[in-house]
Amino acid sequence: MKILRTKAELRAQTRSWRGAGESIGVVPTMGALHEGHLSLVNAARARADRVIVTLFVNPRQFNNPDDLAKYPRTEESDSRILDPLGVDVLYLPDLDQMYPEGFATSVSVEGLTAYLCGATRPGHFDGVATVVAKLLLQTDADFAFFGEKDFQQLQVVRRMVMDLDIPTEIVGCSTIREDSGLALSSRNLRLGEDALAQAPAIYATLGATVTAIRDGGGIDASVRAAGDRLKQAGIGPIDYLELRRESDLARATDLSTPARLFVAAWLDGVRLIDNVPV
Ligand code: PAF
Repeated sequence: MKILRTKAELRAQTRSWRGAGESIGVVPTMGALHEGHLSLVNAARARADRVIVTLFVNPRQFNNPDDLAKYPRTEESDSRILDPLGVDVLYLPDLDQMYPEGFATSVSVEGLTAYLCGATRPGHFDGVATVVAKLLLQTDADFAFFGEKDFQQLQVVRRMVMDLDIPTEIVGCSTIREDSGLALSSRNLRLGEDALAQAPAIYATLGATVTAIRDGGGIDASVRAAGDRLKQAGIGPIDYLELRRESDLARATDLSTPARLFVAAWLDGVRLIDNVPV
């Protein structure tokens, strides 16, 4: 696995692959890699001739400076984890490769970003859309792989590539979970022992609520009961707990179109998100 740090090195590499007629898959990450990321790498290897993993902790998508400062940075172990997995390039750009002096452009996706994490983390999705657009262009990727844990991010990126005619196919991959049901996340590294024992209540609550809704328990009543259940499990404050349509993330008032139950809640000073299809 080559480690590349500049756009120029990356471009030289992708041009040579293109010259040989090879396709390129990219897995954008902010590091602190876990099995969820590795499943994206495996999906990329199955789909593309060449695989690039990008690792860049993007300051523009953190609306809270404290959150950015605390974000785990484990570059050396990340690189060791990726090395045997058949990744061709680990791209580790410095800040000036992504945002050189005078950088003045922001990509903003309307509509989908008005809800959920867009409403509770102002500016977050502008930062995500901007960096993902840059990473897709820099890597010249045919395919890019994103986890469904960040389902809103996945839909925002899909909308952005459609709107900007970026010729990359966006591939969504299932959420990977601990045996306890806890969705894997780089943020889990920041949970203390007690919080790690409490956190599986999030997925258990989502599952029980989906069952209640499917059994005719009523959407509003079932979602309210889920909020109470999370609070009883010591999880909170809850930023949101809502049933929304997959396609446009508008509130789902019935189950006539595919919908998901989305949650963002705080535990031990860490903001955790999850979602399940209903
Ligand atoms: O999901 C993430 O890790 C980040 O939001 C991404 C897509 C790598 C952009 O910085």
